[in-house]
Order: sequence, then C-alpha cells, then structure tokens
Amino acid sequence: MFKRLHDDNTFVFTFDGTDIQACKGETVAAALFANGIAALRKTHTSSSQRGPFCMMGACYDCLVEVDGKTVQSCMLPAQPGLQVNRAKAQDE
Ligand code: FES
Repeated sequence: MFKRLHDDNTFVFTFDGTDIQACKGETVAAALFANGIAALRKTHTSSSQRGPFCMMGACYDCLVEVDGKTVQSCMLPAQPGLQVNRAKAQDE
C-alpha cells in the first residue's frame, strides 16, 4: 500500500495489542498505513469501515483511542510504547 522512503530511527507502539513499527517523525496514521492497516473504526449506523482520508485533521475518519480518549491518528505523533486501539463505533 504505502512504502517508507527510509526506515531510520524505528520503534514500536501497539495497535489493538499488535506491535506496529514506526519511524521517528511519523504520525500514528502514517505508521498504520505503512504497516498495511487502513481501517481504524466502524460507524455505528452502518458498520462501514473508516480510515484516514485527508491526513490533515479535517475529515475525522481516522479516529482511534489512546488512553481512553478519542483522537485523530493523523494528528498524533507516533511514540515508543504508545497503546492505540480502534475507536468505538461513532455516529456519522
Ligand atoms: S485523516 Fe482526516 S482527520 Fe485524520
């Protein structure tokens, strides 16, 4: 799907308990894409899958949960040890 230009300064965070390799400077959404993960949540009304679309904080399709809070994964810098989970279904 997406390929990194470099693999320097890698570290690991988890997504739903699975190790995800990230590089310094990447957002959580970019790291998930680079690891082949594009669907981050399902909608409440239709169970349609949603994933990052705009990558600039405008569409809110990239929502994930971190420490019990719902955040935009395209705006969240990936950090070593971060525990990220799929967001609970949201109304459209
Ligand atoms: S991808 Fe659109 S807000 Fe994150």
